Amino acid sequence: MSQQPLACIVLAAGKGTRMKSATPKVLHKIAGRPMINHVTAQAESLSPQKICVVIAPDMDDVADAVSPHATAIQQQQKGTGDAVKAAKDALEDFKGQILILIGDAPLLTATTLSALRDAAQDTGLAVLGMVTEDPTGYGRLELDDEDFVTAIVEDKDCSAAQKDITLCNAGNFCVDSKLLWQCLDELQNDNAQGEYYLTDIVSLAAAKGVKCGLAVTDEIEALGVNSRNQLAQAEWVMQTRLREAAMAGGVTLLDPETVFLNMDTTFGQDVLIEPNVFIGGNVHIGDHVTIHAYTHLQDTKLGDHVKVGPFARLRGECVLEEGAVIGNFVECKKAHMHEGAKAKHLAYIGDATVGAHSNISAGVITVNYDGYEKHHTTIGSNVMVGCDTTLVAPVTIGDGAYIAAGSAITTDVAPDALAVARNRPIIRDGWAASYRQKKQKSKKKTG
Ligand code: UD1
Ligand code: MG
Repeated sequence: MSQQPLACIVLAAGKGTRMKSATPKVLHKIAGRPMINHVTAQAESLSPQKICVVIAPDMDDVADAVSPHATAIQQQQKGTGDAVKAAKDALEDFKGQILILIGDAPLLTATTLSALRDAAQDTGLAVLGMVTEDPTGYGRLELDDEDFVTAIVEDKDCSAAQKDITLCNAGNFCVDSKLLWQCLDELQNDNAQGEYYLTDIVSLAAAKGVKCGLAVTDEIEALGVNSRNQLAQAEWVMQTRLREAAMAGGVTLLDPETVFLNMDTTFGQDVLIEPNVFIGGNVHIGDHVTIHAYTHLQDTKLGDHVKVGPFARLRGECVLEEGAVIGNFVECKKAHMHEGAKAKHLAYIGDATVGAHSNISAGVITVNYDGYEKHHTTIGSNVMVGCDTTLVAPVTIGDGAYIAAGSAITTDVAPDALAVARNRPIIRDGWAASYRQKKQKSKKKTG
């Protein structure tokens, strides 16, 4: 609805002490994506003219995470109001609505933020509110008879009566640029935390006769992540959203709550995922894929009709082309399995290419590491690698070759050749019976 020009400020300079972490709070991940990138994605969804993220001086890693968006440095963490002020230079020439997002509220949707913009349309100021049964830690909203917000009182500054207010500040504001910079210049820090609170712009605007509109969302969407506990709650909400979206797109999850997805996971249709599956970053799954229970996937592309697991681990740029099978207790790292290639039991396939329709039997290991460097194993198409074989890389097995079970292959094998690299068994007829007899006699003597 709102046609005014828009800019966004994202606050991310806070210390996040309640996380008890060496990592800045906003870099903690939800569904594999740093919290701050969830928030910049919210901002991007509204197509603003500019997004400026406020960070602390030692937060180069946060600047990298939000690049190419601009960053502004808040020299000392003196509160959310002071943090917004730090973005003033970056937005000096901008006139219009400024949407202020907080870096620790990763679950807000574009619909809610549009509603906040609309609420600010008439007066030039609006805050996002939420109702919660447990308002501990949140600022409380005081309303007048017309449901305009007259003041926001921080939890630590609340009187006993104010503590009972359940309508809280979700942390986000939409403010006319001129009004914002005026109010910020008037902020004081005479409060329980000695900080410059952004929330005080509401009473400062009221003193100028500017009313503060209100948009309300639910407490789940507005969840602020200040602790590991809240991080886990946010993860739960995001996982629920991702699972629902996957199922809506044609994926069967037998036990949805035990399947963990990543923000960038993509699915084809008619995918079946059994319980207890973890999907990390950069996993792309084709049509008619089955992922059996207890499988761990990262950085992997699964073609159509692929089967993986149970108890399989795939990571580090794996590609399984159409109809490939990776079975139980198989680990793949940087493995490219061509069409119909199979490794169904107990194998390690690392830094390897396996040609179409080749079979890797139980217990096969590609020996890819010499203690210093990684080496590649190339296996052609229609190759049969027998059980308990080690392929010492770098090594190439030609198309159609047979590798006998129990072999240690240290040189290349020509196409269609048989390679046997093991000792011949020594068989002595009757040896076991005479051995037993001898042992029993000596037992009688000593017994
Ligand atoms: C803030 C609000 C509170 C609201 C809650 C919603 C204020 C004063 N309080 O409280 O009313 O209910 O969010 O989650 O605004 N930050 C800076 N620089 C600072 C301080 C904070 O950039 O000096 C950033 C933080 O990185 C964070 C955001 O501002 O992303 C909010 O700060 P936080 O300390 O989490 O505020 P809350 O106590 O949660
Ligand atoms: Mg917070």
